[in-house]
Amino acid sequence: MARPARVTLVEVGPRDGLQNEKATIPTGAKIAFVDALASAGHQVIEVSAFVSPKWVPQMADAREVFAGLTPAPGVRYTALVPNLAGLERAMAAGVTEVAIFAAASETFSRRNINQSIDESLATYRAVCDRARSAGVRVRGYLSTCFGCPFEGAIAPAAVAEAAARLLDLGVFEVAISDTIGIAHPGQIPGVLDAVTARVPLPQVALHFHDTRGTALANVLAGLDYGVTTYDSSAGGLGGCPYAPGAAGNLATEDLLYMLDGLGIETGVSIDGVMAASLAIEPHLDHPLPSRYVTATR
Ligand code: HMG
Ligand code: MG
Repeated sequence: MARPARVTLVEVGPRDGLQNEKATIPTGAKIAFVDALASAGHQVIEVSAFVSPKWVPQMADAREVFAGLTPAPGVRYTALVPNLAGLERAMAAGVTEVAIFAAASETFSRRNINQSIDESLATYRAVCDRARSAGVRVRGYLSTCFGCPFEGAIAPAAVAEAAARLLDLGVFEVAISDTIGIAHPGQIPGVLDAVTARVPLPQVALHFHDTRGTALANVLAGLDYGVTTYDSSAGGLGGCPYAPGAAGNLATEDLLYMLDGLGIETGVSIDGVMAASLAIEPHLDHPLPSRYVTATR
């Protein structure tokens, strides 16, 4: 299949990027980060997570971040929700698009959300039903699609089955996620063959972490397959607190450098994203991992 001429980026920096940061980041700095990412041209920004603050303290100010941001026309501001309580908190904050997050691995599901896969899908069915009745759109993440920190290899058939179950709940898109950054390009066609037998290709997104430096190569394999939606995180921040060994997400700047070079449109400015990343950096206790930022700062 020909590579797409245009792709949609889902900027997950304010959520996946910051959720694992040890330093407490001021709410005002998070709000400025989100606004700067919108100014850079992002059309989809995952702002925060309405999860348990005991489990992920960094996301405890989700309501305040949503209240403080300046909505830009046409931008979708989204949030993670793990359960009905999270959905209600999100809706009270005026959020109109949320994301649920299930796993292809039983052990990771228990470690991340304290539920089996079946239990989580029952929880998410209630979330999706309530969201639908309230006119809230729901995205579905599926973690550990290319390998699990606890179980090792995950069969593509298990990924496809879980993705189909998410679609059945009514999600508009399934983000096939490499939680610990273990995927390599050789895996991409096989996993996508299995998934797209159950989920239409336009409803499949790819979410890579870059622990082993293969994220860009994986995106290239995804582009060759025809996938048109990719998640990335400004500055290359990120990691899941419940996935040992997970380093940063694919950096938005690194992804844009490649997509711009390939002539694939995104509507997002690499300079604008880098400005947003550099402004959040002083609030972190480490430098930004993005290779593009490191090379050009
Ligand atoms: P639990 O402890 O099993 O359940 O947590 P609980 O119902 O007993 O709740 C514990 C406490 O949290 C209670 O408070 C609840 O009220 C409260 P207490 O009574 O002890 O005072 N609580 C909440 N508070 C605010 N908002 C809520 C909420 N829910 C419960 N929504 C639970 C189960 C699912 C809540 C917990 O495990 C949780 O929040 N997990 C989230 C973990 C997380 O955020 N992980 C990172 C995001 S996933 C990710 O990064 C992967 C992704 O990027 C894709 C990829 O890369 O693979 C998406
Ligand atoms: Mg992630």
